[in-house]
Amino acid sequence: MVILKSREEIALMREAGKLVAACHQEIAKLIRPGIATREIDQFVEKYLAAHGARAEQKGYQGYAFATCTSVNDVICHGFPDKNLLREGDIVAVDFVANLNGWLADSTWTYPVGQISAEAERLLKVTKEALYLGIAQAVAGNRIGDISHAVQAHVEAYGFSVVRDFTGHGIGRTIHEDPPVFHAGPPGRGLRLREGMVITVEPMVNIGAYHTRVDLNGWTARTVDGTLSAQYEHTVAITEEGPFILTQP
Ligand code: MF3
Ligand code: CO
Repeated sequence: MVILKSREEIALMREAGKLVAACHQEIAKLIRPGIATREIDQFVEKYLAAHGARAEQKGYQGYAFATCTSVNDVICHGFPDKNLLREGDIVAVDFVANLNGWLADSTWTYPVGQISAEAERLLKVTKEALYLGIAQAVAGNRIGDISHAVQAHVEAYGFSVVRDFTGHGIGRTIHEDPPVFHAGPPGRGLRLREGMVITVEPMVNIGAYHTRVDLNGWTARTVDGTLSAQYEHTVAITEEGPFILTQP
């Protein structure tokens, strides 16, 4: 069941989104060779708390951390740990802020120092695919229009879109209807309406799209060991078009 949001509710989610965006700007300054993903996680938890918000992922379905920190071949749900990031790594940092009961969710992939030309290209194409998908998040379109825009761009560059994880509706809880697929035919699926708030969050692999989950039951990796990147925004569908809640 899709829960539509009023203008007032979207304004509250925007406040949560601004906080998420501001936190990502701080994370960008923190990322360097030699920092542990656990330090990034602790920073985010403290930053949100200091701004009157809660790190919603902590405790969600038993997840133990404020953030997911997904390094290199990790697609999503990487556990923050004591391992130090190294020059040339890429790390996706994903978290959800709960501010006054309303949520905002955003992931950004950061380069650690100098990264390879191929990794640069992966980040660029994945980010472009995110914004092309968001551009389709307009009332009257269908979910499939988002999926198709993302997939077409990614595949034009020879990369692949992960199928096993999707975007989602979001509001007072992290995962609401509808699922937002990042691959599929245009003109199909649920029709988008004003008041829907969704995430668009493509995960893109250099190699094949297949995933394998670690023994911890959470962390998904590429089966072929190639790099994976992800960018995610929370987006409201409004009369004026897509409203990205998680940008500054
Ligand atoms: N933020 C995630 C998403 O984009 C949710 C991560 S699952 C969690 O869907 F358990 F880590 F919270
Ligand atoms: Co997320």
